[in-house]
Amino acid sequence: MKESLARSHGSQCGFCTPGFIMSMYALLRSSELPPTEEQIEECLAGNLCRCTGYRPIIDAFQVFAKTDDAFYTNTSSSDLQSGEFLCPSTGKPCSCKSKGLNGAETCKKSTANEHNYEPVSYSEVDGSTYTDKELIFPPELLLRKLTPLYLNGFGGLKWFRPLKIQHLLELKAKFPDAKLVVGNTEVGIEMRLKRIQYKVLISVAHVPELNVLHVKDDGLEIGAAVRLSELLQMFRKVINERAAHETSSCKAFIEQIKWFAGTQIKNVACVGGNICTASPISDLNPLWMAAGAKFQIIDCKGNIRTIMAENFFLGYRKVDLTSGEILLSIFLPWTRPFEYVKEFKQAHRRDDDIAIVNAGMRVFLEEKGEDLVVSDSLIVYGGVAPLSLSAVKTKEFIIGKNWDQELLQGALKFLEIDIFLKEDAPGGMVEFRKSFNT
Ligand code: FES
Repeated sequence: MKESLARSHGSQCGFCTPGFIMSMYALLRSSELPPTEEQIEECLAGNLCRCTGYRPIIDAFQVFAKTDDAFYTNTSSSDLQSGEFLCPSTGKPCSCKSKGLNGAETCKKSTANEHNYEPVSYSEVDGSTYTDKELIFPPELLLRKLTPLYLNGFGGLKWFRPLKIQHLLELKAKFPDAKLVVGNTEVGIEMRLKRIQYKVLISVAHVPELNVLHVKDDGLEIGAAVRLSELLQMFRKVINERAAHETSSCKAFIEQIKWFAGTQIKNVACVGGNICTASPISDLNPLWMAAGAKFQIIDCKGNIRTIMAENFFLGYRKVDLTSGEILLSIFLPWTRPFEYVKEFKQAHRRDDDIAIVNAGMRVFLEEKGEDLVVSDSLIVYGGVAPLSLSAVKTKEFIIGKNWDQELLQGALKFLEIDIFLKEDAPGGMVEFRKSFNT
């Protein structure tokens, strides 16, 4: 990888190089099959380079991409014998994973004998091989049993890790101001960089009720602690398995999740944290609202209430949650035939940047004679107000109207009334931002 990067002029000052290498390594190490060009580009998102531009870096790593099926065997995990797995280092079946602790040795031996295989990552610099240096995930960490934790830190900081919802609710009753964390991607920044002090932190990453991911007849139930990567995977799965008209929202979410946060962050950041942070430029909250999602909220006594996402956001980083309540799960309904959900995001940079303006839009059309008439709709903008803002007047205008060019022109006028930005609006660029709404 290093050699390919250097030969393609993908490394200059070298500051970003370790990050790119590690991202690529993680992809190769965890993929069962050689990745596609698109997967490689996706895995590199989250790494920024100020020297080279990205073309030489992407070109350097495209040598690992599977571009032509004819060059590969058809081995996949379904072809494997019991006890075997597809070794990410060799692409061949082997048993090194099941033998565990000395994986690299086993793998090298078995594949070399059976398939006359030579390691592909030979280093011309020190003569060592990739497999000689292969690190494995520490087995102790894999084998360790999960236990509830209670840790004390500096300045009276308390950190809890409950494993049951009942224990979590008891902690929340005892410490109403406790901050819940999963990947710590928001709270960590607040504490380290903004110097915000939280006395009690509760890690909810392992509470089963917050990690559900159920496909139901009428939609998808998503636990609040489900990681963004898991959610992305589930969306991709249901798109393949369900009728196309049902997954318009899922497709919009996939597109929107693609542009924010690198894979490393998506692997640990959770859906509920992203929602409850209630950022006015949240990329997903306008979509939850537009898609008609419902949030389930549980209080310390175990009572559950449901609220439409549309009504959950009350003001700048303010949501409809009392100190004794937590977000339990999100329900995303399937879209109906002739119901469409679409995302929008404009930022300075395509990947990994906060939005200047974003939006989630839904329209449900009904056939009336020859015409298609708007039966229901919701258009929500981010980046134009202290909270994700629903374009109420535009919605009222378009409902009942024919879906045509005239409707579009009329809607744009109402949008200017709904999305009103003062000259001195925070964030500036008022004319620029308004131009995206119209
Ligand atoms: Fe300098 Fe990427 S090579 S930042």
